[in-house]
Amino acid sequence: MNFSSDNWAGASQPVMDALTRHNHGSAPAYGADPLTDRITQRFRDIFETDVSVLFTATGTAANALSMAACARPGGLVLASETAHLHCDEWGSAEFYTHGMKILPLATTAGRIAPDAVAEALAKYREGSRFGVPAALSLTQATECGTVYSPGEVAALTARARENGLVCHMDGARFANALVHLGATPAELTWKAGIDVLSFGATKNGCWCAEAMVVFNPQSLPHLAIHRARAGHLFSKSRFVAAQFDGYFEGDHWLDLARSANGAAARLAEGIGQGGRARVAWPVQANEVFAVLTQAQIAKLRGEGAKFYEWSREGCEDDEHVVRLVASFETTAEEVDRFVALL
Ligand SMILES: Cc1ncc(COP(=O)(O)O)c(C=O)c1O
Repeated sequence: MNFSSDNWAGASQPVMDALTRHNHGSAPAYGADPLTDRITQRFRDIFETDVSVLFTATGTAANALSMAACARPGGLVLASETAHLHCDEWGSAEFYTHGMKILPLATTAGRIAPDAVAEALAKYREGSRFGVPAALSLTQATECGTVYSPGEVAALTARARENGLVCHMDGARFANALVHLGATPAELTWKAGIDVLSFGATKNGCWCAEAMVVFNPQSLPHLAIHRARAGHLFSKSRFVAAQFDGYFEGDHWLDLARSANGAAARLAEGIGQGGRARVAWPVQANEVFAVLTQAQIAKLRGEGAKFYEWSREGCEDDEHVVRLVASFETTAEEVDRFVALL
């Protein structure tokens, strides 16, 4: 019953098999190998457009380096108040951008409202001593386990683009959002105004494979140099590419995400049944935020369940919102045991 996070899971077998399959002979270093080329082409097929793809080791690096490439002096990054890049990345976006400020925007269930972006744009105009908006970052799926529809993404980016902002998507759980919506990768990104995507694969079955997928290279000049200077240009790039090879083969990545989302949905249903407890926000991807009493938390932990306490938003005195994350490895038995204990 491990619901700590999807990055506690291992790597999927097809991903590990691909690593072994590609571990022979020598190949040019620093991404000039044929496999990296082939995988870049695969990204182009998936996104139905001519993207450039830059691997990084972590999602934090993908987020921070995307921001670095669109940084301007006195720039502001508009992001949700719960955005990972604001709350959980040790100030790396601020560090790599030479001090762009993150402007946290109010959210509903993790999603930024278009009005919040409009208000920030109206308030902080060119010449503002506080700073000037330079980028918008949306997290998909959000940190609250909800997703933005393509229309919602487009509405947010339209305001931002009118004002010259670069639009970034933190897609640490992109696959989970995608399968929930049944949208295409193109509809959810560049067709909805996204310039660059942090494409996460580590949480969904790879062991160290993230990528910056660039739809609009003019908006991110020198991104490749920022990545190299930050130490994220892999000399053995083909082993990151190999993970993506296994990940994409036969739409394995979508199957993994469906499995994780299915486990989360089963968990949410079980939690809600018979008034056991309630969920804090709609469950749309692979995360469940449940409002539990301290007694329930203690009981579950005593029986070996693992999860994090998240916040006290909307809680009564002895309640706490806990985060339960399902991964592609989560089994129905684990879920059912958790629910039975509850
Ligand atoms: C929404 C989101 N973005 C980015 C990251 C960063 O990924 P990494 O831990 O690989 O730096 C995480 C990791 O938990 C995340 O949940």
